[in-house]
Amino acid sequence: MSSNTSTLTVDNKSVELPVKEGTIGPSVIDISKLYAQTGMFTYDPGFTSTAATESKITYIDGDKGILLYRGYPIDQLAEHGDFLETCYLLLYGELPTAAQKADFDYRVTRHTMVHDQMNRFFTGFRRDAHPMAIMVASVGALSAFYHDSTDISDPHQRMIASMRMIAKMPTLAAMAYKYSIGQPFVYPQNELDYTSNFLRMCFAVPAEEYKVNPVLSRALDRIFILHADHEQNASTSTVRLAGSSGANPFACIAAGIACLWGPAHGGANEAALKMLEEIGTPDRIPEYIAKAKDKNDPFRLMGFGHRVYKNYDPRARIMQKTTHEVLNELGIKDDPLLDVAVELEQIALKDEYFIEKKLYPNIDFYSGITLKAMGFPTSMFTVLFALARTVGWIAQWSEMIEDPSQRIGRPRQLYTGERERDYVTVAQRG
Ligand code: CMC
Repeated sequence: MSSNTSTLTVDNKSVELPVKEGTIGPSVIDISKLYAQTGMFTYDPGFTSTAATESKITYIDGDKGILLYRGYPIDQLAEHGDFLETCYLLLYGELPTAAQKADFDYRVTRHTMVHDQMNRFFTGFRRDAHPMAIMVASVGALSAFYHDSTDISDPHQRMIASMRMIAKMPTLAAMAYKYSIGQPFVYPQNELDYTSNFLRMCFAVPAEEYKVNPVLSRALDRIFILHADHEQNASTSTVRLAGSSGANPFACIAAGIACLWGPAHGGANEAALKMLEEIGTPDRIPEYIAKAKDKNDPFRLMGFGHRVYKNYDPRARIMQKTTHEVLNELGIKDDPLLDVAVELEQIALKDEYFIEKKLYPNIDFYSGITLKAMGFPTSMFTVLFALARTVGWIAQWSEMIEDPSQRIGRPRQLYTGERERDYVTVAQRG
């Protein structure tokens, strides 16, 4: 931390505000005493200039297009590592040794089954329920099934809850999918690795043997790595805020899933694929580009733009490569959606509007095409995002709980409503 300060002058009174420095990235002005010193709040709806916390987990340089988990570049992790290794790294801060990795994989694997009563819980949903609705509910419901890991003051219980969520999320996600298509649930198979097990739980049926395609499994594993954490995004901040009140971890992660669902956040992968389907053929692209640029039209190019990345999203690059690998493996030579996506990207990247506003493809632009080719319906896309992001949410939640200076998150407001006025009875109201 530096001893720098900044000076703010309010009503001719100057206050010194400490400046704190991180290891990399912008420094912050510590305004925690500002209200006491000036009687004023800061105003930053959308948090465009506000660091809500200190964190050691993930670093993003949006101008350069850099994403680091615990200091490691995302492309190196995606190229050489696997998802559970990334989970270990995010949770514990270091890459595991071979023995630590084996132990961690074993511990996660031991928790893949869900309480059998959960099956009954599922059957209460309509068959056409959106799987994200089922995820919000079923992850929240884990707190009702696993009372023995909801005491957040006990580090052991916190660890067990974390393992349970990382391990059970694929099982619940696959159950949500199976339920929606009217097929029986497939129990986890602990001989398989994390991602192969998930593919099997989604696509196997009791009537025949299912062989996991290793190329698809590796590709999906890489997609999970890309989604594992992303600093203080909306859903992560939601998890932290929910957790700041002392709520149990299952409830906090359910809150994160609810936030992720929105089309401006995790719901964008589903929205991007629907948009590509709606565009249909490359000749219709100019019409949609014009819509996206029209101030009077709410339409946006889904899968484009990012609050932090003002350069190519590094995850989108890896995603694009993965898309080609998956389509090749599946022998899909001509995918009309991919044609539209590639052409749309080319046109948008040359368009003055997108250049000026620094709008580049984000991770969601290509992920939908890949997941669709693997056999997932669009309604499952955000569920897969939630599955992968669970570890990031947990790592951020744990970091917060373990911070001795942690307090409940309680933003303030600029009040612009009515001043105090007296109650008028209904008979007297004009
Ligand atoms: N298409 C057309 N115009 C856009 C787009 C877009 N996708 N994104 C931003 N703009 C324009 C926007 O209209 C605004 O123009 P102006 O300054 O003239 O009013 C300007 O760019 C800045 O946009 P903003 O909404 O103020 O930026 P933001 O940082 O609040 O929003 C965003 C970021 C990701 C919500 C937004 O870019 C967006 O809605 N993109 C489409 C949805 C999407 O792909 N979301 C996935 C994000 S990555 C995965 C994740 O984190 O979940």
